[in-house]
Amino acid sequence: MLEQIKETAAYISRQFGSIPSVAIILGTGLGELAGHITDRQELPYAQIPHFPLSTVEGHSGKLIKGRLGNREIIAMQGRFHYYEGYTMQQVTYPVRVMQQLGVKTLFVSNAAGGMNPDFKVGDLMLITDHINTFPDHPLRGKNYDELGPRFPDMSGAYTPRLIAKALDIARRNGITVQQGVYAGTQGPSFETPAEYRYFRTIGGDAVGMSTVPEVIVAHHAGMEVFAISVITDLGGFGDIVKCSHEEVQKAAAEAQPRMTLIMRQLIEEM
Ligand code: HPA
Repeated sequence: MLEQIKETAAYISRQFGSIPSVAIILGTGLGELAGHITDRQELPYAQIPHFPLSTVEGHSGKLIKGRLGNREIIAMQGRFHYYEGYTMQQVTYPVRVMQQLGVKTLFVSNAAGGMNPDFKVGDLMLITDHINTFPDHPLRGKNYDELGPRFPDMSGAYTPRLIAKALDIARRNGITVQQGVYAGTQGPSFETPAEYRYFRTIGGDAVGMSTVPEVIVAHHAGMEVFAISVITDLGGFGDIVKCSHEEVQKAAAEAQPRMTLIMRQLIEEM
């Protein structure tokens, strides 16, 4: 695996020239931020050696390098989900490649279902912590000490300094944000009403099918992490409402400009 990571990183370095220390992974229907990247260079995943290919609707699957405001960044438009059939090593492979490339800070966005009764559809939730309920773990198996420790501490995985700065940015721009715990689950079925209640009971504020594997690996790799969920549907309280992919995409699109503003400004000011 280490050899492959190095080959992939070497290829990306050759194509892109210098590599920024900030990376972004854009979630379902949340690619708008990528539209703000200037001086861009793009690499479709299909061209990158050893990279998995993304399959799901709403994910175009390319690596973008460029500038966001005053800062150079590298962005993944489209990510790999466990429910697509990838192994956890494949899901998190791009994060390992980023580590090899020298990325120090990772920004992540996702769409999630809200279980906190204070949440509304379209809310932004700054992720303060997570609960991992995936059936596999990206660090299972041989540990490569050069990548990170066997038993990584997971406190402060979501960098408090970046959360504080994002709260300040939201306040200055009159954007209401929530904060909370993201429960990561395998999907691809959305939760039953009882499952939404379960995720609430165990301490989750929102539930989704991504992010947790990437954040575990990024934290293992010593990166700082900042992550935002867009609350695209609600479950676990009130009336039972059906959840669809279309509805998730629509709510994500509506919330995108606010998320984009916070991410951009945070990246500029960090
Ligand atoms: N559950 C899981 N994943 C999701 C949801 C949800 O309700 N909404 C968007 N992604």
